[in-house]
Amino acid sequence: MTRIGFAYNQKPDSPVGLVSAAATEPRPDEEPPSTSDVYAEWDSAETIDAVASALSAYGEVVRLEATEEFPERLRAERPDIVFNIAEGLHGANREAHVPAICEFFGVPYSGSDPYTLSLCLHKGRTKDVLSAYGIPNASFALIDSAASLDALLHGNSPLVARLSPLAPIFLKPVQEGSSKGITEKNLVRSRDELEAQVRFLLETYDQPVIAEAFLPGAEFTCGVLGNGSRARVLPLVGINFGSLPHGALPIYGFEAKWIWDTPSEPLDIFECPARIDPWLQSSIEAVVLRAYHTLGCRDWSRIDVRLDADGVPNIVEVNPLPGILPSFEDNSCLPKAARAAGLSYDQLIQSALVHAAERYFLDLDAPLSSRYSSLAESVA
Ligand SMILES: Nc1ncnc2c1ncn2[C@@H]1O[C@H](COP(=O)(O)OP(=O)(O)OP(=O)(O)O)[C@@H](O)[C@H]1O
Ligand SMILES: [Mg+2]
Repeated sequence: MTRIGFAYNQKPDSPVGLVSAAATEPRPDEEPPSTSDVYAEWDSAETIDAVASALSAYGEVVRLEATEEFPERLRAERPDIVFNIAEGLHGANREAHVPAICEFFGVPYSGSDPYTLSLCLHKGRTKDVLSAYGIPNASFALIDSAASLDALLHGNSPLVARLSPLAPIFLKPVQEGSSKGITEKNLVRSRDELEAQVRFLLETYDQPVIAEAFLPGAEFTCGVLGNGSRARVLPLVGINFGSLPHGALPIYGFEAKWIWDTPSEPLDIFECPARIDPWLQSSIEAVVLRAYHTLGCRDWSRIDVRLDADGVPNIVEVNPLPGILPSFEDNSCLPKAARAAGLSYDQLIQSALVHAAERYFLDLDAPLSSRYSSLAESVA
């Protein structure tokens, strides 16, 4: 029987960290406390159980929580393949740790390799690569210290030269996810606002800040499944900013994800499949697949796109470890896009496993694999 190692990080039961929107409840006018989102990217017991259950159709699932004991346990268990959703905890390469350890022990694993995971976690480096390949993304500057902030403000940066209410700048911590540190205050329209918010972010998140030209157009998040010429974009998820509270900015950031969207009052923020012109859909799919292949993504990913002032789709960021909350109410984008393509939650998870196994020419105990293949083809 195939032995499937399952690597994950589970949110602590009584965490310092964020469990759900309701658990933190900062007032909308408050700066979210920096410690409240420490575990925002880790998975709940419910997600971990749901993934394990989906994997179990293909073999015996060996749970390998990505704690300090992970290397010894992996070495002792030696599964045929590891299904990886572990986000890691420490450092700029945290998402790469589990895949790197798997490579060290020669154990096949699902998803992108350590290089791609580290690259995509760094929004600036990702944009350097995208730009080198001519893939549209917002112009940007990286600010790693008070000194580089001064240099940006007093140098001749074209980005800052254009800064105005009509050409605002959007700020982000360079290496976070789940909108940690991304609030409405990060949209700045003047040098004073830029300076104050960059200083706050540098101090709070202890990492460089990326300043980007604000992309004013519509936003989409796009699931991708598969590899090589068989990689497919799932039905697009459009972000419906009209569902945000009156006066909110058109940003899918911390407030929208963790304050305004609650289990009791969910926001109707996603439209899937997005109702857009076929030509726009094709151009979004094309840029998404270019980014996926160029950055070396494997098996699955979720890629955010926004239109610039000319309506051109720009890559906002690439998530090679996509969020996969199982329950319908959680409104998780990739499972939602998969559903629109006719794939159940289990089939989404199984498809990532099957694509990974195919890369290693590994035979799974595959009661459903032939069935999945036909569904995967239908996504085309
Ligand atoms: N250059 C930009 N112009 C306009 N809006 C932007 C820009 N960059 C980011 N945003 C807004 O901020 C949101 C969060 O940014 P981004 O997706 O980079 O962060 P994240 O925290 O990594 O997201 P995720 O939760 O998807 O991991 C985007 O969904 C988008 O609404
Ligand atoms: Mg995003």
